[in-house]
Amino acid sequence: MRKGPIGVFDSGYGGLTVLKEIVKVLPENDFLYLGDNARTPYGNRSFETIYEYTLECVQYLFDQGCHLVILACNTASAKALRNIQQKDLPNIAPDKRVLGVIRPTAEVIGKYSSSKNVGVLGTTGTINSESYLIEIKKIFPELAVHQQSCPMWVPLVENGEFDQPGADYFVEKYLNELMEKSKDIDTILLACTHYPLLIDKIKQFIPEEMKVLNQGEIVAPSLLDYLQRHPEMSDKCSKTGRLDFLTTDSTEIFNRHAEVFFGNKIFSQFVHI
Ligand code: DGL
Repeated sequence: MRKGPIGVFDSGYGGLTVLKEIVKVLPENDFLYLGDNARTPYGNRSFETIYEYTLECVQYLFDQGCHLVILACNTASAKALRNIQQKDLPNIAPDKRVLGVIRPTAEVIGKYSSSKNVGVLGTTGTINSESYLIEIKKIFPELAVHQQSCPMWVPLVENGEFDQPGADYFVEKYLNELMEKSKDIDTILLACTHYPLLIDKIKQFIPEEMKVLNQGEIVAPSLLDYLQRHPEMSDKCSKTGRLDFLTTDSTEIFNRHAEVFFGNKIFSQFVHI
């Protein structure tokens, strides 16, 4: 058995906000990031398309030697994870594992809210899947979950408009729509990997005391915990502190944009999937 990096998949740049937090808690591990930039955004695509694209990318990461793949993308986690885990893995790679971001988030979200009312902001795909409603109900049945899709937020971030005055309109619009659903919301979850880049704008339109949960900070300790509970998987993960980045679109554009999401300069490699 050859050890391999942990694969981290996202439809584009967004998963870098999750990887950034994961690297802080697992600095010795190797990671192979794959952004499907050529086909992003996933958020408004059909179930079948998101499943097909995600499975292709997971298979690619397996082919590169990954034994464990994290779907850092909420949309992919909501639409494709269950099928991949239950239908595909037993046939294509029974000893490999694919984990998502929704379950680890659902496991802790109830601890943050005193009013027992949380808001979940995500892409149309994530929200319509009702995955958060279903998963949170299993763990915190007393929690009221108010959902809001924010279809314009990913394009704003992807196009570098996240800190520009033009973004204010759509940031305020979706937050107002969420707040109209309940006056008791005291915690909001950014259930899309792109949204942390809008955090400064989001804070302008919500009460100061409202908590805003950044998913990377939840997923990272959960992955650490998973590897501690599964030493057989941890042993298969190579640990030289290496980070590699793959994109299905222009490396030049990826390198330019990715730094904003990851915080450090990135040199990516092009892959055709
Ligand atoms: N990264 C995706 C997520 O977390 C959003 C981007 C997209 O729509 O592709 O939901």
